[in-house]
This record gives sequence, C-alpha cells and structure tokens, in this order.
Amino acid sequence: MLENIEKFLNRVAEAAERSTLVKMTLSKPAQKHDDLRNVYVKPVLIKEKRLFAFTYHFERRDEVKNYDTTQMLGILREMIPNRFLNAVLFTVSEDVTLLVSGKGKATIQTKKVQECREQNLEHDKQKARLINPANPWWYQLGLTTREGKITADMQHKFKQIYKYAEIVESLIKPMKFESTVHISDMGAGKGYLTFALYELLTQRLNLDVDIKGVEIRPDLALKINEIIKANNLKGLEFVESSIEAYHPEKLDVLIALHACNTATDDAIASGIKAGAELIVCAPCCHKQIRQEMERSGRFDAITRYGIFLERQAVMITDTIRALILEYFGYKTQVMEFIEMEHTPKNVLLVGRRTSKAARDPKILQQIADLKARYGIERHYLEGALDLKFQDFDEK
Ligand SMILES: C[S@@+](CC[C@H](N)C(=O)[O-])C[C@H]1O[C@@H](n2cnc3c(N)ncnc32)[C@H](O)[C@@H]1O
Repeated sequence: MLENIEKFLNRVAEAAERSTLVKMTLSKPAQKHDDLRNVYVKPVLIKEKRLFAFTYHFERRDEVKNYDTTQMLGILREMIPNRFLNAVLFTVSEDVTLLVSGKGKATIQTKKVQECREQNLEHDKQKARLINPANPWWYQLGLTTREGKITADMQHKFKQIYKYAEIVESLIKPMKFESTVHISDMGAGKGYLTFALYELLTQRLNLDVDIKGVEIRPDLALKINEIIKANNLKGLEFVESSIEAYHPEKLDVLIALHACNTATDDAIASGIKAGAELIVCAPCCHKQIRQEMERSGRFDAITRYGIFLERQAVMITDTIRALILEYFGYKTQVMEFIEMEHTPKNVLLVGRRTSKAARDPKILQQIADLKARYGIERHYLEGALDLKFQDFDEK
C-alpha cells in the first residue's frame, strides 16, 4: 500500500521538477468530522519563484498558502493517507489518481489526456475572495451569523467595508514593498476594516503584513486582540492608544475609516509625519470647522441655512485637508466611495506620496484665503502638523 503512495508522490515530484504539474486535488477526509474538507493545489509564479498555492477549503472558510517543492511534498506526505484518502494529480499529459480504501489499501490509476493542457502560473486566476464572510472572525466581530451570513443590520457596514477594501486593493496592488507592508488603521473601532485589510493583503495579495489597529477604547482593543489570538492571525494587532499618542516607527499605508471629528486630522498628521506612501481616509463628523464657522458669524447666502452650513463645513474641512496633503507632497484625490444610501459619510481622501517635496506657498495662500472667507481661525490639522500660517493669515 505504501508503495503506491510513494509512487504517487514520485509522480508529483517529477511533474513539479519538469514543470508539467497543472493542478492537484486532495479529497475524501480520512476523519469524517475533519473541518478541512479538501485541498486544491496549483503552481504559481510569485516574485519570479515557482511555488505551489494550496487552497485549504475548510467547512466555513478558505485559506491560501504558498510552498516550494520540498515543502509541498512534505505536506502531501503528511496528509496522505492521514487526512485525505483520495488525491488526483493533473499533469499536461496525464491524470494520476490515488485512492486509499477505508481498510488502507492504496491503488493508483493513470489516464492519458487527449486535450492539450498547459501549466498556468498566474496565481490571480485562483484568487481568494476580497472578504470571505465565512471566516470565523466575522461572526466573532458580530458582522455575520454563525453560518457566515451577513446579519440584516450589518449589511450597510459590510458594503462600506467591502468598497473601501476594493479601493485600497487597487491602490496597494501597484505599490512595491521591501518585505513586510506596515499599515495602521487609526480609530479602528470594532476592527471590521482592519480584518478586511488583513484578509485582502494576506490571502489575496499574498503579502507579509504588520497591521496595527489603533483604538482608544481599552475594552474594544482587548476584545479584538482576543479574537486575533483565537484565530492565530499573525501580523495583526490592536494597540490601545489615542491616535495622537501613537507614533509608528515604520508606516507604508495609513487607513482611517470614520475616525471621529478631528481624530481624522490626527490620523492624517500621523501618516504625513511617518512618511506613509499612501493615506486613505473617509472622514466622519466635521464639528471643529462647523463650530468655528458658527462662532465667526460670517455667514454668506449659503451658510445661513443650517443644512448648507453643515455641508459647507464638510467641504471646507476636507478641502483644507486635501490641500495640506498636497502641501506635504501628496498627490491627492477626493472621491465618493459608496452610494449615499449606505452612509452619508461617503467621501474618501486619498493621498499618494510623490517624490517632490512640494511645500508650495501658493497652497498655503489658498488655505489662508478659504479660512479668511469663512472666519476660520485654525483648522485642527494645521496645529497637528505645526503649520505656520501667520504671513498668509494677516493678508
Ligand atoms: C465611528 S468609529 C469607526 C470605527 C471603524 N474605523 C469602522 O469604520 O468600522 C470611530 C472609532 O474611533 C475611535 N476613536 C475616536 N477618537 C480616537 C482617537 N483620538 N484615538 C484613537 N481612537 C479614536 C472611537 O473609539 C471609535 O471606536
């Protein structure tokens, strides 16, 4: 019996060596109640290296891991027949099927294939989902039912997170990282976005990560860290801290989704100071500037109406944030990331660091003009970055 298993493994080794392995499947769990239902293996080319992507299909989640040939053979040796009784190797010219019976008898069958097959090394074709609600942490975080269905009252939140993650994916994909990508999610709350990013980066983009969720509420930070530990999510951690007091040593990407009022400014300031390559913020309430505008009493035809004052405060707050990002050399976009029905706080500020150290005084002049027009003494972000405006404010 062992002879046939050995024969099968030799065929796998040979196909790996000759680059003729198209795919492989392991099925029929040896233990009826094994949470791991089957495994799908395919060759991939990652950073010029030929590896094998194993997609582990668990009862309620998928996991993708990449291995070199030696590791791949070691894992197969451990899994057949201890975890799986059936294995099929598909090569460019033949299918090799290994069947182990309940009594431990192993048979092997080889079938030549008629169609013309090729190895496909594009690992993107067999991607993990952007967010997989069946992963157990979504239930533990309160987003899904035990069966992995998004609960009715979390549908809007899920859509926001999904959209945000989609945009972050398109922004991060073209970026180059030395080895590990360092990310801070500021004002991380219950961690929905933080976990979504973790899934996206580790399971879909195959990146090594160091993701910190920064959250001021100790109860939340503690609870989320317990969930992280229970799921053994390496590279993910919640830090109990205010955004102001948190100074990351290394930061590639700064994320903040609906960090309250000026917490968004603290997050942007932190990203700029740490030299983050990418800053992606969806601001929340805009009280600071609205209160300044109200205090100044300098209403124009638009801002004398309450609703428009509110909207104008949003526009002015975020315009000044965008201008300050530009001033510090970030190419900045302002966009809507999701339809209003899911959240009215649907504006996204995206800043990508450019090589030019802008510091253009014209930008400071634009900010000073805006502030003067609406009677704003100070935008919170100025203070957080210690920007000097005296020359412009006096004009
Ligand atoms: C509206 S929630 C958003 C949570 C999460 N980003 C999301 O969208 O699901 C804002 C979170 O930011 C946290 N927060 C507010 N101000 C903060 C500060 N200065 N430092 C750290 N966290 C802060 C709050 O405790 C809260 O959990």
